[in-house]
Amino acid sequence: MKTIKINLGDRSYPIFIGQKLFKEYALIADYINNKRVAIVTNTTIEPLYLSEIKKLLGHEDILSIVLPDGEKYKTHESLNSIYDQLLANKYGRDSLLIALGGGVIGDITGYAAATYMRGIDFIQIPTSLLSQVDSSVGGKTGINHSLGKNMIGAFYQPKCVLINIDVLKTLPDRELSAGLAEVIKYGLIRDASLFDWLEKEMDNLMNRNPEQLMHAISVSCENKASVVSEDEFESSKGIRATLNLGHTFGHAIENAMGYGNWLHGEAVACGMVMASYMSMKHGWLTINDFERIKKIIKSARLPSTPPDLSREQFLGLMQSDKKTLDGKINLILQKGIGHAFITNEYSETILLETISQKTFGE
Ligand SMILES: NC(=O)c1ccc[n+]([C@@H]2O[C@H](COP(=O)([O-])OP(=O)(O)OC[C@H]3O[C@@H](n4cnc5c(N)ncnc54)[C@H](O)[C@@H]3O)[C@@H](O)[C@H]2O)c1
Ligand SMILES: [Zn+2]
Repeated sequence: MKTIKINLGDRSYPIFIGQKLFKEYALIADYINNKRVAIVTNTTIEPLYLSEIKKLLGHEDILSIVLPDGEKYKTHESLNSIYDQLLANKYGRDSLLIALGGGVIGDITGYAAATYMRGIDFIQIPTSLLSQVDSSVGGKTGINHSLGKNMIGAFYQPKCVLINIDVLKTLPDRELSAGLAEVIKYGLIRDASLFDWLEKEMDNLMNRNPEQLMHAISVSCENKASVVSEDEFESSKGIRATLNLGHTFGHAIENAMGYGNWLHGEAVACGMVMASYMSMKHGWLTINDFERIKKIIKSARLPSTPPDLSREQFLGLMQSDKKTLDGKINLILQKGIGHAFITNEYSETILLETISQKTFGE
């Protein structure tokens, strides 16, 4: 097992990563003591892992809140149903929420914890690869609004994160690939040696070899921990913004195609190809590195060809994404593999050329 610490003063917390962690009560005992516990999960995860978690906790008085599965339920209604059940069961300020599921469950539960009775404790038990390497770490919580994704939320840190890699055995293939997109992202933005390692080990990761999964998750969490410790609240030109590499292009794709048709990680993968194409056209990335990026995305069975959108539609959607600086779209671009930066000083002609490409040459 490995422990990674998120250093945020009195909001610091550990991330435990390993196998068979659902048998390690000692890891979470300190956070459970004298608390009333409620587990929030969904209808897919409930039959797979809820009883194991209840057994881990050991005590009788545990409320299970089971939400329907899917991004479309990351809503105010789901959030309200958590409040309703906590209130109906007289859960007070000494309660603890446990988020058991992927990023959707983690984000809603974190926000419920941030707001219920002005804030109660919560623990993340992420079960998708994406939530293990990204969403469960760093304290962004929230829900969607009909006018925009993740528009309502709060920064609120968990007490600890328990990452049991055994649960990845039941994760659907497409979801595994989507999670790998975020792992590749850390390599591209700040960790060239992770990128080199991924080039060698991608087949093992795709085969869910525990040793390689353990490494990919640990290194990803270390990278995220270090970024978040430096820039917890994502200041406008701060380092946390670089975690959005590929996301402005990706959000436009997700939005245009209808949420759920392209998974977030799939859209981000294609977005990273687009950002690296743009970087190459500025002379900031070599052709060889651009080819390596396309190749690794392909080897994780992720798309690098954008859907057929008009230039106007693409640009409109990118402009409505929230990351604009001085009126011009703010982009995360690359100077070589392992170094990303935020800028609005780029050629608009190259941006237009990038979003007009039907293929990036595979
Ligand atoms: N808070 C953040 O910093 C942050 C960062 C990135 C993404 N997010 C959010 O995370 C969400 C996406 O997360 P996600 O990709 O985990 O999606 P998700 O929560 O919808 O999970 C994907 C699917 O896999 C299923 N699943 C999860 N674990 C499983 C397992 N072990 N076995 C079988 N099935 C399993 C889920 O039930 C779901 O059907 C989005 O809402 C996004 O906005 C948040
Ligand atoms: Zn993402």
